[in-house]
Amino acid sequence: MSVSKPTHHAIRRAAAALLRDRLVAFPTETVYGLGARARSSRAVLRLYAAKGRPRFNPLIAHVADLAQARRLVRFDERAERLARHFWPGPLTLVLPRLAGASVSRLAGAGLATLGVRVPDHPVALALLRRVGEPVVAPSANPSGRLSPTRASDVARTLGGRVAGVLDGGACRVGLESTIVDLSGPRARLLRPGGIAREAIEALIGPLAGAGNEIRAPGMLESHYAPRARLRLDAASAVVGEAYLGYGPLPALPENVPALTLSAARDPQEAARNLFSFLQTLDRPHIRTIAVAPVPRDGIGLAISDRLARAAAPR
Ligand code: TXA
Ligand code: MG
Repeated sequence: MSVSKPTHHAIRRAAAALLRDRLVAFPTETVYGLGARARSSRAVLRLYAAKGRPRFNPLIAHVADLAQARRLVRFDERAERLARHFWPGPLTLVLPRLAGASVSRLAGAGLATLGVRVPDHPVALALLRRVGEPVVAPSANPSGRLSPTRASDVARTLGGRVAGVLDGGACRVGLESTIVDLSGPRARLLRPGGIAREAIEALIGPLAGAGNEIRAPGMLESHYAPRARLRLDAASAVVGEAYLGYGPLPALPENVPALTLSAARDPQEAARNLFSFLQTLDRPHIRTIAVAPVPRDGIGLAISDRLARAAAPR
């Protein structure tokens, strides 16, 4: 496995590896994705195996533009509006799959729908254009663990299982895409993420489903978990714990490692830092990471969703 700067040459090599059914990790604006050639069942099976991901959990097809997405799924007026407004960007649309879609049935977990998105990252887009066909890409972490926002996270946890990692630096958003299911008459929020629920509702009206009763097939309750336990809505921490703050840090006992998601209480900054700070605080001698209360509106909904899952019983 090699970690490469995303030069033209490295992107060409990565595209060629994907077209040979190998796995390549690449940066997106949300988190690092683990890419596989979508239409190859062999590549898709390798992807599920590399992540240890249950096969009933479908994958998102990544494409370079709206025109390519139209060849995979049926757009209605709501989908058009959202895609035109938010793509490229951290929004995944779940839509009825077209019969001729060049995506393996295994990638869609046999469902009649497909999740699609156009990522807003120059390296991801260059790679997708070069490959010229859809690439399925879950977050590049072992199933159930924290999502990677840096190339080094991928190398550490999946290094032996991928052909290469394109290093595009730290991810700008830091949390996965918002998933909206438009396959039925009622638009549903399946996963809060990088685009605020409010911004979507401003364009297509109220969404069914909210932060904490989420039903993407793969949204198992426990997810995004560090090794340490999490204690939420904590004002402070005791020895043996670490503290993850929001806003200025409180006075803490000595030997309590602490970081704040955002000293200025900027939710975007907090989202960007969430996974890497949990990673940093997840040290062998730390039993529990105590986490300050975070806001629940805008991208705060996605932050609290990920924290609730990380804290869920395992
Ligand atoms: O930001 C992101 O979306 C990142 C980057 C790499 O693009 N990808 C990502 O993929 O988060 P993953 O596989 O970690 O999460 C995809 C989620 C899963 O919970 C899956 O169940 C859901 O999307 N999903 C995919 N296809 C679906 C479908 N047809 N219907 C309902 N849920 C779907
Ligand atoms: Mg994931």
